[in-house]
Amino acid sequence: MVATSEYILTEVTNGVLVITINRPDKLNALNKQTIEELHETLVDAENVNEIRAIILTGSGEKAFVAGADISEFANFSVEQGKQLSSIGHFKIFNFIENYNKPIIAAVNGFALGGGLELAMACHIRVVSDNAKMGLPEVSLGVIPGYGGTQRLAQLVGKGKAFEMIVTADMISANDAFKWGLANYVTTQNELLNKCFEITKKIASKSPTAIRTAIKVINAGYNNNLNGFEVEIEEFGKSFGTKDFKEGVSAFLEKRKADFKGE
Ligand code: COA
Repeated sequence: MVATSEYILTEVTNGVLVITINRPDKLNALNKQTIEELHETLVDAENVNEIRAIILTGSGEKAFVAGADISEFANFSVEQGKQLSSIGHFKIFNFIENYNKPIIAAVNGFALGGGLELAMACHIRVVSDNAKMGLPEVSLGVIPGYGGTQRLAQLVGKGKAFEMIVTADMISANDAFKWGLANYVTTQNELLNKCFEITKKIASKSPTAIRTAIKVINAGYNNNLNGFEVEIEEFGKSFGTKDFKEGVSAFLEKRKADFKGE
């Protein structure tokens, strides 16, 4: 159903796909192959109805993802740098943000550069108390290239985003929570349980409505769209789904809804 590959581990539990980026000796840095494998895993899971939500985490106790693989782009030209960014946006970062199921980042350690950008592309972030998060790219003479300049400002506000990006400072899990970058902070032991607590709620709700909610929330951040107009359109369309009929019938019949995602 969902292929397992060299740097990506997958496990489905109660309708939740847990994806683990598995390069612990390189702190799960995103090399080209990991990006490809993660993309393929997400594509495979997209139309599997039984999968209602995804948890994305890193292998080991030290890192979620310590960034793009620096050794791979060390000798890149201007054109190659541009391609690295645009392929990443297309295959992973925008792809995750616009995915049809909620994706929760379980940030279990360092989330730096592309690692924090990956967590920020996810819909929800749960962070363990040992995590350190930052966008240190200016230390290397580059800027964040996987959406970090945009999504960090959306999540923490422009002032704090400027500070984090131009100083390259890492922030703690508690500061990430305080700034709105983390939805929850837990111990490392509790991290996945907290994520499962959230996915359990998601899994009992209408997949079509959830898919639509993701689309409409994102529309508000798209300069080419009017989020309110998209909401009106999509709200109307909800009335044509089987999930809507089931949700309303279940409420009126005082029973639990059995959503099929249609
Ligand atoms: N790309 C490639 N390799 C990376 C990496 C990255 N982004 N981050 C860590 N690694 C590798 C290290 O090179 C090292 O490999 P080695 O054992 O073969 O030498 C291994 O992962 C362990 O990292 P190390 O630096 O020894 O761990 P540490 O505990 O001393 O430091 C960090 C941890 C996260 C502070 C440090 O690894 C770091 O600063 N990483 C780069 C973060 C970054 O700039 N990310 C943005 C990239 S655009």
